[in-house]
Amino acid sequence: MHIPHLMQKRFENALESMTSTPEKYASMIRSTSDPNHGDFQVNLAMPLSKELGKPPRDVAGEVVGAVDVADVCEPPEIAGPGFINLKLKDDFIAAEITKLIGDARCGVPKRKSNDTIVIDFSSPNVAKPMHVGHIRSTVIGDSLARVLNFLGYNTITDNHLGDWGTQFGIIIYGYKHFGDPKAVAADPVPELAKLYRKVNSLIEFCKAKKRIPQLTSEIESAKEELAQLQSTDISSDPKAEKKHKKSLAGAERKIGSLQSELSDTQAKIDAVEQDPQANAEAIKHADIDKAVLEETAKLHRGDEENLKLWEEFLPNCKDEINRVYDRLGVTFDHTLGESFYHKMLGVVVSELEAKGLASTSDGAVCVFLDAFDAPMIVRKQDGAYLYATTDLATLRYRQNEFKPTEILYVVDTRQSEHFDKIFAVAHEFGLKDVKLVHVNFGTVLGEDGRPMKTRSGTLIGLEGLLDDAVERARQVVCDPERLKNFDPPMDAAEQEMVAETVGIGAIKFADLSHHRTSDYKFSLDKMIALEGNTSTYVQYSYARTQAILTRAEKLESDVYEMVQAHGITFTHPAERTLAVSLLRLEEALLTVHKDYAPNVLVEYLLDTARNYSRFNDNCHVLKAETEAIQATRLALVTLSGRVLQLGLSLLGVDVVGRM
Ligand code: ARG
Repeated sequence: MHIPHLMQKRFENALESMTSTPEKYASMIRSTSDPNHGDFQVNLAMPLSKELGKPPRDVAGEVVGAVDVADVCEPPEIAGPGFINLKLKDDFIAAEITKLIGDARCGVPKRKSNDTIVIDFSSPNVAKPMHVGHIRSTVIGDSLARVLNFLGYNTITDNHLGDWGTQFGIIIYGYKHFGDPKAVAADPVPELAKLYRKVNSLIEFCKAKKRIPQLTSEIESAKEELAQLQSTDISSDPKAEKKHKKSLAGAERKIGSLQSELSDTQAKIDAVEQDPQANAEAIKHADIDKAVLEETAKLHRGDEENLKLWEEFLPNCKDEINRVYDRLGVTFDHTLGESFYHKMLGVVVSELEAKGLASTSDGAVCVFLDAFDAPMIVRKQDGAYLYATTDLATLRYRQNEFKPTEILYVVDTRQSEHFDKIFAVAHEFGLKDVKLVHVNFGTVLGEDGRPMKTRSGTLIGLEGLLDDAVERARQVVCDPERLKNFDPPMDAAEQEMVAETVGIGAIKFADLSHHRTSDYKFSLDKMIALEGNTSTYVQYSYARTQAILTRAEKLESDVYEMVQAHGITFTHPAERTLAVSLLRLEEALLTVHKDYAPNVLVEYLLDTARNYSRFNDNCHVLKAETEAIQATRLALVTLSGRVLQLGLSLLGVDVVGRM
């Protein structure tokens, strides 16, 4: 049930004779946060009054006189300068709640057309362990896929693995120079990860060395710029003074940040150079950055040895990430990966050239785009193809194979420019009938507000993080004081299952609770608390519904019969508030799709759980005064359980029967 849509239609009809754009005004309906203003408020009178040249209150009066919502709402009220307040009729709420009792989809209709939506998500670069940064794409993409699928779209999920890039050059180089074939064969995943880290730190050192002279000269010129600004005379122009001050501050900031980068970089170099063994190794591999690129290029050219190593390593890398997906309960329809498109890249480049979209510049094939300063390079001078080339081939393939209406790329905001370019080229490339969306997201920060790292400076591994969350969940929900209350007692296996469900759920839910474009601070303590904006709270609310149903010894079919016999009647405001909440799932889900924003569903579930809690605190169910009152309350408990469980499942979060 989508109540605002229903009312929007009614208002549209009423507005037809008053304006040529009734839909625009009718869409100005919002839910209210203050129950004194009813359940919904329509704020169309002010803007419409401008169009009609009449006072807003008069306009509101006219609209209210014309609109027919008598079956849904109490007579609309006009407040303040012309707000139209709508309060749902109890009868209407009761009838809708009765319908929900028999409906497994909790009042959310399935769309008729089965348009296809491709969701490209998770997509880690394999060959290095998954880290905290991979959480976001994985859980946001997974929950969007679940929601869209539930709404009735034909969803196709594709994990566009980075299985063909420099990271393989890194482990191949590592294996050739530092690898112990026996150790790798015996325990490949940690051994490859070790090699990856070793080579990566040598590359960092080598980059740091090259960065020092660059930084020194950048600081020189920034200082010159500052000196020039300081000597500019602006005394005659008071307006210029403000601007000048700003420029001075900017120039000083720039010098400051370059200087701090210089000292960080120098510290990294010193750390290596002070260790004779590390220093000797760094000198020996001084050109490792180029050498790694060469190993990657050899792989791409089909070099037998590198191809063989790649084939040997890839399954191990996949095992590693699959372990994480299993634990998270995330699956994909396809995991094609970048390597799958390798053979199509040459064709893409020649087609771009044939269509006159690409041209050669300094030996590289580039696509020049009007709206961008830098061109999109699709083949480098040395013949290597790029990330962008693969994305164009992928897009073409998806278009041909899946015929989607929409493709969502759930990828870090830092790749915005890449996708802007891909989408611009796609259009010129003839891929017009598909909506392409970069569902971008911000960074996970540590408690210090900086991108989350461990003490040694590498990104925190995802598996370790999941273990920590489950451990923390165990402390919170399997605390002996709490466990005393369970009858029959919780055995070890059940405790394990509860801790896992709560811990994993908390990480997902906390991530999804922030609007995807904002950065957020990762704090296990806050995520797992029983009270607060946590999945633990929602899971706990669900468990409370189940406890009541168990004690009442009622199945949903019994509740259904009771409601048939007695109808739904509200005797306490907390019942009504909860009921309205339960009717709003569809609204939340459609907004999740419209904005690609699972946080809307999170907010909805928290709100519903809070309303359930208020209901629980105020309304006896088992000891209800009459059977009719009990029927309504049992219906609300049953539906609350179902809505919370369904909503959480669409976020990829499980529930437990008791906790
Ligand atoms: N592997 C890439 C990375 O880790 C993300 C890929 C996203 N999907 C895509 N079609 N480009 O940065």
